[in-house]
Amino acid sequence: MALLIVITGYQANPWVSKLQAFEPKLDIRVWPEVGDPDEIDFALTWRHPMGELKKYRNLKCIASMGAGVEHILCDPDLPHGVPITRIVEPSMSQSMSEYVIMVVLNYCRHNDLYRKQQIEKQWRVKIPIRARDLGIGIMGLGQLGGDAAKKLSHLGFQVAGWCRTPKMMNGVITYSGDNQLIEFLAHTRMLICLLPLTAGTKDILNLDLFNKLQRGAYLVNVARGEHLVEEDLLEALETGQLSGACLDVFRNEPLPEDHPFWRHPKIVITPHISSLTIPSAVVPQIIENYHRALSGNPLLNEVDVTQGY
Ligand code: GLV
Repeated sequence: MALLIVITGYQANPWVSKLQAFEPKLDIRVWPEVGDPDEIDFALTWRHPMGELKKYRNLKCIASMGAGVEHILCDPDLPHGVPITRIVEPSMSQSMSEYVIMVVLNYCRHNDLYRKQQIEKQWRVKIPIRARDLGIGIMGLGQLGGDAAKKLSHLGFQVAGWCRTPKMMNGVITYSGDNQLIEFLAHTRMLICLLPLTAGTKDILNLDLFNKLQRGAYLVNVARGEHLVEEDLLEALETGQLSGACLDVFRNEPLPEDHPFWRHPKIVITPHISSLTIPSAVVPQIIENYHRALSGNPLLNEVDVTQGY
């Protein structure tokens, strides 16, 4: 019985040490040093090489190291019938909400302008945007979007949320489905994307959608790079339909050095840090699921593969 870590683009070491500290007897293997593939019961993954997971015929669970699972579901060669889990963890929602609130407050208090003015030793006052005057629209009201919506609403912002199926939230105007999308966008001055990436949400941040926002709206993408049609963002910034964007996620990560986003004066970039998975915080739920998978008990945070999240 063994747990296999299959990770690309990041280090496995912090995971190994936290898993070992929590469960010293656990047999942990780190891909590609797998040993006997038939001994692997559980795979903890982040962007595994396509086709890799079907090599483990005793696999009982595929666990994402993060909140998203599209990096698993995009594998055309996934083993059939093996349940998939994701991380749901209050500290990750808190971290995402902190990032979103930081961007919203920077925007309302003209922080970028004051940083520039400081370099030029300029003392010029611009009236802040009052919270109650800013229409924030959050796409996706799941664990992350729901938490951000609630916290922004407590701060006094006019918050609306849009999701696939109808949802009620105190202090948040909610919209759902394709037929309410236009109304939701018309309300929105700052659009925050926190949708899961699925076939239905890929490329959703496109010119047609931007044109339905209030003129001069600001875009925040903290979900996945594939939600955004990059050329459409550049065009909307050029025409002034969008006044700026803050992006934490990109189609290609790390963002290639020659990408036009890097030097764009209206785009703020961060390197996919809005809500990092902290191994020590999530190891308990991974170990819990490891035991549940071995004993055939229902798993925590199992993904509905047909919905894609
Ligand atoms: C990060 O992007 C995650 O899915 O946790």
